[in-house]
Amino acid sequence: MDRLNGKIALITGASRGIGRAIAYELAKQGADVIINYRGSEDKAKDLAEEIEKMGKKAYLAKFDVANFQEVSEKIKEIEREIGNIQILVNNAGIVKDTLLLRMKEEDWDKVIKTNLYSVFYVTKAVIPMMIKEKWGRIINISSVVAFTGNPGQTNYAAAKAGIVGFSKALALEVASKNITVNVIAPGYIETDMTSALPEKVKEIFLNQIPLKRAGLPEEVAYLTAFLASEKANYITGCVFHINGGLYRG
Ligand SMILES: NC(=O)c1ccc[n+]([C@@H]2O[C@H](COP(=O)([O-])OP(=O)(O)OC[C@H]3O[C@@H](n4cnc5c(N)ncnc54)[C@H](OP(=O)(O)O)[C@@H]3O)[C@@H](O)[C@H]2O)c1
Repeated sequence: MDRLNGKIALITGASRGIGRAIAYELAKQGADVIINYRGSEDKAKDLAEEIEKMGKKAYLAKFDVANFQEVSEKIKEIEREIGNIQILVNNAGIVKDTLLLRMKEEDWDKVIKTNLYSVFYVTKAVIPMMIKEKWGRIINISSVVAFTGNPGQTNYAAAKAGIVGFSKALALEVASKNITVNVIAPGYIETDMTSALPEKVKEIFLNQIPLKRAGLPEEVAYLTAFLASEKANYITGCVFHINGGLYRG
């Protein structure tokens, strides 16, 4: 498939999990991809090699999405050395789960910075390139817990709900520039993030899912690739739920 031929895509947190699957799928559909990561260098390199084998370009971009200065400098470097980013997937995220009563200020700050401030930092740096291109796709990865809540995740749910408001407002600001902004809210997806959950918690989650299984990172990637394509030209400011029926909007 060559739906995304000639496009340059930046995926944050693409060394593992959902971000990795998204980078792979966008490349499979023709895009050249910029793989952002923070610590997992070997994994990011492995992915880049796999993508290059498919005949697409893959660039490594190590930066901390929670650091405004680092983000701005790296995005400027990307613009100079690679070109204008046309597809941005804000995917990088972390959890630091604990009940509010026990939550330390640093648990709150770290999660809000990495999951929400990062979306502002990266998007702000990338948008001028999309305006120049007169075309852009921004896809922000939220979570079902932004809509349902989850005990132990006040920080994470707040950040993920913030992404929804941010995306809806931005979609209105940039619609006239032919830039769309949409949100994907995954449910329980099999990645390192969820493999850390205790078996008992996993079982409770699975029992609540009508399709009776966890989702796969690839399944989130297929939806992302669709939203990044010309086929999704008329969709903006929307939230897409992908959760096996757990929450239906
Ligand atoms: N898995 C789920 O069930 C689920 C459900 C709903 C939403 N989500 C959301 O989907 C996204 C991906 O989750 P996942 O399950 O794939 O997570 P994951 O397997 O833990 O991978 C997280 C990715 O984010 C990167 N990352 C973390 N902090 C970063 C930072 N400060 N700067 C740059 N990169 C950073 C990691 O890179 P390094 O390893 O290089 O640090 C890694 O590539 C997250 O936003 C998550 O909240 C996940």
